[in-house]
Amino acid sequence: MGAIQNTQIVLAERPVGDIDLKKTFRTDKTSLSTELGPNEILVKVLFISLDPAMRGWMRDVRSYIRPVRINEVMRSADVAQVIKSNNSDYKVGELVRATAGWQEYAVLQPSDDLVKIKAFPGVSPSTYLGVLGLTGLTAYFGLYEVGEIVKKGGPNCTVVVSGAAGATGSVAAQIAKHVFGCRVIGIAGSQDKCDYLVNELGLDVGLNYKSKTFFKELSAATPKLIDIFFDNTGGDILDGCLRRIAFQGRIIVCGAISTYNSVEPKGPAYYSALITQRARMEGFIVFDYAKQYAKATEDMSNWIKEGKLKSRETVVQGIENAPVALVKLFNGDNTGKMLVKVADEDSKSRL
Ligand SMILES: NC(=O)c1ccc[n+]([C@@H]2O[C@H](COP(=O)([O-])OP(=O)(O)OC[C@H]3O[C@@H](n4cnc5c(N)ncnc54)[C@H](OP(=O)(O)O)[C@@H]3O)[C@@H](O)[C@H]2O)c1
Repeated sequence: MGAIQNTQIVLAERPVGDIDLKKTFRTDKTSLSTELGPNEILVKVLFISLDPAMRGWMRDVRSYIRPVRINEVMRSADVAQVIKSNNSDYKVGELVRATAGWQEYAVLQPSDDLVKIKAFPGVSPSTYLGVLGLTGLTAYFGLYEVGEIVKKGGPNCTVVVSGAAGATGSVAAQIAKHVFGCRVIGIAGSQDKCDYLVNELGLDVGLNYKSKTFFKELSAATPKLIDIFFDNTGGDILDGCLRRIAFQGRIIVCGAISTYNSVEPKGPAYYSALITQRARMEGFIVFDYAKQYAKATEDMSNWIKEGKLKSRETVVQGIENAPVALVKLFNGDNTGKMLVKVADEDSKSRL
């Protein structure tokens, strides 16, 4: 019976506050049998997606998904290559997106999470974890389903996006700007990122939330107030945008990264603006729209081809660096999608 050595990173301890690189995770070298059961496939992980939501998956609380268990391989979406197959739908050499976790190899059964990647020329497989992956889909459904952009979008619509230089925010901002023609203000954590938003992604304004004059600049950039706020960060930025929300404005509560490491949650102070402005603030989870992923992916593939959607990746090398890469997300070290590259795609990947 064959076996291969498999490096796995497991959740060793639930962090309280910030992730502790010495305690939160543990690297295990294990042996994985290459004998497959009916319908199973063996995959080699190529890229791991790093997501702020992972911090939530480490908490033992009620959520939209069960917590990662102690000593369980850390959960992640990966792009992987089939290297052995007992399933005629998945051939050796093909690429898939799967929830395979922080490990080099995995044995998988067909499931809703196991999706074949149909890459088109000029698009790297890692794109299926970014613009054409869950973060891109999150931007799309947040704007369409919660932001009502089809109804509200256009040149008279002011859209503000926080976390705008990140994976989700950069896609949301570009759809609002280049598909719906809105006035778009992107918020990010450095001048370099703000320059990227304006000069490369074509947004109207980039605002650095770390600037001492940020709230003044936000007011100046939104003379007609904010019709749609796509919020990835929560915290003080959310409060600042609540103060600028327009009549019947929409706040898309996509994420709240500024609070994910907090021991005690802190709510927004200016929520009464929702009453006075008859505005709506609504959360969502991208998985709710799974039945519409195919149409959204087709739209976004077309926008990439038409030059309306650009993307960047920040790639950290080596599975052993997955924990560090996760911490980097919270420090704002990434522009665009944060990934770990685990292995190269192999044209002769066969066991
Ligand atoms: N609802 C859903 O279904 C769903 C799905 C996917 C993602 N999300 C959420 O969407 C958000 C973005 O996720 P992503 O994967 O695209 O990550 P990302 O934006 O690519 O990376 C996270 C970014 O957050 C910013 N950040 C970190 N700490 C911050 C703080 N204290 N205040 C303000 N900004 C901070 C950093 O950029 P700066 O340099 O600009 O600070 C960092 O680059 C997250 O909140 C995530 O949980 C929601």
